[in-house]
Amino acid sequence: MSKVYLVGVGPGGEGYITEIAKRLIERADVVVGYKHALNVVKNIVDKGYDGMEKSNSNGSMSMSKRRRKEKDIKMITLKTQDEVYAQLLDYLKGGEVEGVGGGEKECCILFTGDPDFSESEIVDKLLSLFEGNGIEVEIIPGISSVQVAAARSKVAIDRSSLITFHVTGSIDREKDALLYTLRARRTVILLPRPWDFMPQHIGRFLRDEGIDVDAFDVDIYENLTLSNEKVTRCRLADIPDRDYSDLCVMVIKPRVI
Ligand SMILES: C[S@@+](CC[C@H](N)C(=O)[O-])C[C@H]1O[C@@H](n2cnc3c(N)ncnc32)[C@H](O)[C@@H]1O
Repeated sequence: MSKVYLVGVGPGGEGYITEIAKRLIERADVVVGYKHALNVVKNIVDKGYDGMEKSNSNGSMSMSKRRRKEKDIKMITLKTQDEVYAQLLDYLKGGEVEGVGGGEKECCILFTGDPDFSESEIVDKLLSLFEGNGIEVEIIPGISSVQVAAARSKVAIDRSSLITFHVTGSIDREKDALLYTLRARRTVILLPRPWDFMPQHIGRFLRDEGIDVDAFDVDIYENLTLSNEKVTRCRLADIPDRDYSDLCVMVIKPRVI
């Protein structure tokens, strides 16, 4: 039976992708992802297949070996993704897509970081599309950008609140959660929203809502694990008003007095 893997490929750095993700991507018939996620796995996708043993996602080996073959790589955008997923469903159900034959197929749909953080809108949609049509789906966890930010800032994730503003539509609920958490003087690890709720907007919002912006420190991480990684550490009161990368995580911590 054909199978879809929703694969977390980590925040971008080569060393942050798991072995199982590499293996599944190497052997997949189709790999689908946004430009950033596809860039992360470029070397893996380019790798050949000769002599590679097929193994199950749980790591156990079966006897079959795969021959070198062409892999179908599909770059998606917000605009094209629904159409590509529909084509993929057709293909996995036995149709053909751009010259790849029928039979049992494996497809990896890539997610930056971990598919189970700040991806629920799309993950829910994919689960319903594929599982609703009898295609098995497995989620392969990846290292999330929030995990890397927590590590860089040396804060415990279990003592922090995670909030993503990277959602479509209203972010009022997330804003309330942020205010509530900071009023409780708890650390927050958050994803801003490109481009209307970025670090400088968040600083201004918190000040306007009466948060004591001198009582918190902020670490702003851009392009984590990539060669252009950048960190800005400052008071919540002093967030620089400048352009930030869309790959951005903030850690807001109560100041220790
Ligand atoms: C749709 S969310 C996906 C989050 C992802 N599933 C994760 O676990 O990291 C996209 C946002 O993740 C954050 N992000 C992903 N990769 C990043 C990186 N290398 N550096 C900083 N932030 C990153 C950014 O806030 C970006 O706008």
